[in-house]
Amino acid sequence: MGMKLYLLLFILGSSHAARNIPKDLWFGLATAAFQSEGAWNESGKGESIWDRFIHNANLRVNGDTTCDSYHKWQEDIENLKKLNVNHYRFSISWPRILPDGTLKSINQEGIDHYHKLIQGLIEAGIEPLVTIYHWDMPMHIYELGGFLNPQFADYFGDYARLLYQEYGPYVRYWLTINEPYSICNRAYGAGQLVPWLNLIGDGIYQCSYVLLKAHARAYRIYDEEFKSKYNGKVGLVISADWYEPASNTTVDSDARERILQFQLGWFANPVFKGNWPQIMIDRIANRSAQEGFARSRLPQFTQEEIDYINGTHDYFALNTYDNYIAKNDEQNITNPSYWFDVGASWVNNTYYPEGFRKLLNFINDRYQPESIMITENGLITGDYLEDDDRIAFLRGYINSLLDAIEEDKINIVGYTLWSLMDDFEWGSYNFRFGLIRVNFTDPNRARTWKNSGYWYKNILETRILDI
Ligand SMILES: *[C@@H]1O[C@H](CO)[C@@H](O)[C@H](O)[C@H]1NC(C)=O
Ligand SMILES: *[C@@H]1O[C@H](CO)[C@@H](O)[C@H](O)[C@H]1NC(C)=O
Ligand SMILES: *[C@@H]1O[C@H](CO)[C@@H](O)[C@H](O)[C@H]1NC(C)=O
Ligand SMILES: *[C@@H]1O[C@H](CO)[C@@H](O)[C@H](O)[C@H]1NC(C)=O
Ligand SMILES: *[C@@H]1O[C@H](CO)[C@@H](O)[C@H](O)[C@H]1NC(C)=O
Ligand SMILES: *[C@@H]1O[C@H](CO)[C@@H](O)[C@H](O)[C@H]1NC(C)=O
Ligand SMILES: *[C@@H]1O[C@H](CO)[C@@H](O)[C@H](O)[C@H]1NC(C)=O
Repeated sequence: MGMKLYLLLFILGSSHAARNIPKDLWFGLATAAFQSEGAWNESGKGESIWDRFIHNANLRVNGDTTCDSYHKWQEDIENLKKLNVNHYRFSISWPRILPDGTLKSINQEGIDHYHKLIQGLIEAGIEPLVTIYHWDMPMHIYELGGFLNPQFADYFGDYARLLYQEYGPYVRYWLTINEPYSICNRAYGAGQLVPWLNLIGDGIYQCSYVLLKAHARAYRIYDEEFKSKYNGKVGLVISADWYEPASNTTVDSDARERILQFQLGWFANPVFKGNWPQIMIDRIANRSAQEGFARSRLPQFTQEEIDYINGTHDYFALNTYDNYIAKNDEQNITNPSYWFDVGASWVNNTYYPEGFRKLLNFINDRYQPESIMITENGLITGDYLEDDDRIAFLRGYINSLLDAIEEDKINIVGYTLWSLMDDFEWGSYNFRFGLIRVNFTDPNRARTWKNSGYWYKNILETRILDI
């Protein structure tokens, strides 16, 4: 309600001045395999954890067909072409390429599918940005321990090498793993995403330790075996929100800093600076000792591991959606938990696009990346075509992005909107992020452009943002 009112005032109060968009700033759209492909059991694809867990949960919805992009990929490319995007970010389904996740059997139909998609994009003048892992882990890899098994890095490396061999000549932008924070916190720690584990005190950190080693393996394989031939770039997709302190007291600004370190720094620090943020090392070791553990719940990297992970980036890939108000919330020793390790709490803020610019400045100052690519940003709405709320949101965020580029001189190379179309949002079809509506009750999965689709097309064509 408050947010809607604010948006209305924003629309009424805006003067509709025009702002030029730099010619070399890329605009694109994103999707992910499990959320849009469907064809879950077709053409030799193996079973993923999302297939298995969603089926077993009997939610009455699943990803079996979703947008049916596995069959409708040509129509997706037509829409992308009409939208005039520079790039398209999609993910490759690991079990579609390797049904049990290992090199034991390679599914040629799966390999061929992505060749067709990539060639189709290139013929349409659209640069492919390929996510190697967007959460659809092969069931067999999960049964071997998934992100809790250090050997995961070997399997992930084998899979990544196969993709580089097949698609390396055509793909210049690779993304290893999507949103480690969501995987380790929300899927392994807080039970919110498949595989719905509740390992909030320890498994959450083991997950991050294994995940970073897997990312680094995929980065190093490209760097050592393919970079000289193809000269592409590889990055980790890190998700982060912006936080404003609830008050100007030191305790609240310290709490804000802790949250940023425990969310963004957790993954950015090892990759861009080497090792976990010091505040995580200290606080988790301290609480673990008081809780009676023999060692810190946060695994310690060896120097060799630090050196292997440190520097595994060619660009900073950022997903960002929200901003929050943060306050200090220190807890005495009770149950071991990530939340108590952070010692802060937060509530969501109203619409605040300036938070986006502040986050970009924070990342640029702390990690000094060679460049930043926004790999996801967008607004969730209900199911309607007159999505002027989405347009107002995007206008504010893109305006803030342009401030970061022009006034703060941050090297931001692209903006990728989530999403091309409505999709399966990890358990529900009610959360709509698309510029294009998908009718999920229609067997043909008819696609209809929303107002925001025409708006995005227009700013990409004119290179002018109406603010
Ligand atoms: C694939 O899954 C669908 C349900 O989504 C089912 O109706 C169909 O029988 C399955 N096909 C095969 C070959 O198992
Ligand atoms: C903190 O101080 C600044 C500058 O004095 C002020 O603009 C801001 O409103 C204050 N924030 C809070 C939460 O009190
Ligand atoms: C990470 O690499 C940078 C650049 O080589 C180096 O300055 C830094 O000391 C390394 N970090 C650690 C913790 O070894
Ligand atoms: C652990 O935290 C407590 C309480 O904040 C503090 O008094 C103590 O010095 C810390 N110990 C270490 C080893 O950091
Ligand atoms: C922590 O313990 C102290 C001493 O028992 C108590 O005074 C304080 O209220 C407790 N704090 C919280 C957040 O529970
Ligand atoms: C803000 O929090 C409320 C209540 O938890 C939630 O329903 C809403 O989706 C949140 N909004 C955003 C933008 O995250
Ligand atoms: C969605 O498709 C179904 C089945 O074709 C149709 O009955 C319905 O009217 C469509 N909904 C919309 C909003 O177009």
